[in-house]
Amino acid sequence: MTVTLREIQLSNFKKFSNLKISFNSNAVAIVGGNATGKTTILEAILHLSTGKGSQPAGTYVKKGEGFFRVKGVIIPATGGPPSEVVVFYDASKREKKILVNKKLISRLANLIGLMPTISLNMHSFQWVWGPVEWRRKQVDLLLAQANKTYLETLIKHYRVLEQRNKALRTTKDKTLLITYGQLLFETSSLIRRYRNKLINDINEMSSQLLDYLLPHKKHLLNLKYHHHSDEDWENKLDREMELGYTLWGAQRDQITWEADGQDAASFLSRGEGSRLSLTTVIALWLWLSQHKKEVTFLVDDWEAFQDKKYLNAVPSFLLEVKPHNSSIFLTSWNILKGSHWQQVVLKQKH
Ligand SMILES: Nc1ncnc2c1ncn2[C@@H]1O[C@H](COP(=O)(O)OP(=O)(O)O)[C@@H](O)[C@H]1O
Ligand SMILES: [Mg+2]
Repeated sequence: MTVTLREIQLSNFKKFSNLKISFNSNAVAIVGGNATGKTTILEAILHLSTGKGSQPAGTYVKKGEGFFRVKGVIIPATGGPPSEVVVFYDASKREKKILVNKKLISRLANLIGLMPTISLNMHSFQWVWGPVEWRRKQVDLLLAQANKTYLETLIKHYRVLEQRNKALRTTKDKTLLITYGQLLFETSSLIRRYRNKLINDINEMSSQLLDYLLPHKKHLLNLKYHHHSDEDWENKLDREMELGYTLWGAQRDQITWEADGQDAASFLSRGEGSRLSLTTVIALWLWLSQHKKEVTFLVDDWEAFQDKKYLNAVPSFLLEVKPHNSSIFLTSWNILKGSHWQQVVLKQKH
């Protein structure tokens, strides 16, 4: 059995002063009523994976306390000794420290990919209805977890972009701007090659899922990646110097679900859009599982994706499509049926 995350310990993390949970299954249901801390536990797991949550670090510190600490013990599916990840945040210094096997890591990039995760939660509706920036960021996070070269290229891209934008505001030195421009063109090209491949794969993988989830609309829908070739970037230089920022590059690319060139957000119903979001995230999960040995799927409030017509049983559907090297942590208001799930029941007072 694949067990990725075996144990988690929270200190002063949101509502929890001290909480330790051991996991012994690759399908875990975290069960509890409103405000019992279900989302908090998934956010803690996200911290172990990406070093941060969806909100600013300070909001995770328990009210009245000065720090939080999240510790996780990870067992590689392929055997070998467990790894320990600690994320520590000091609120007064506003300082985060991340330790892997008790050794301080010098940069966040060294954590990414160790315990890859993918999330399905209330934000996931943005696959259809959100801003393009959000989708680009999700694609970047996914690719970064799957591939170190991508992560390093992305970091380099944003560093060069920042330097170039600064130079556009402060210097009249065109040779420097052209040097930065060439670097940015190179990083953009590489980033786009990876994104193109991912988006092609996702279209292929979601086509099967959509047969089941969106049978009437599926042949129309395509996840589209819009980007320019940017071969002519030097022609934009004068305008850029006027404006003080870069007008091209992979940081501006757009990713949108479309049919016949029309944004899916404009014609899908609420139910259809939510099923398309669910489809996207499942496809990304399957994709990541093909590229990494172990993947953790974090599903918050699965009931939000419940759909009487097609999917009144999201949890069992997820188990059905689950790759063997993947684990699911799902939160639920009610105890789940079936013996597959390890159920962790949260009480109001903890
Ligand atoms: N920084 C914090 N300190 C103390 N309690 C917090 C903090 N942030 C959130 N909470 C509490 O955590 C609870 C919400 O937890 P959450 O994980 O969202 O619950 P659930 O997902 O089960 O509904 C609320 O009661 C909220 O007041
Ligand atoms: Mg919640």
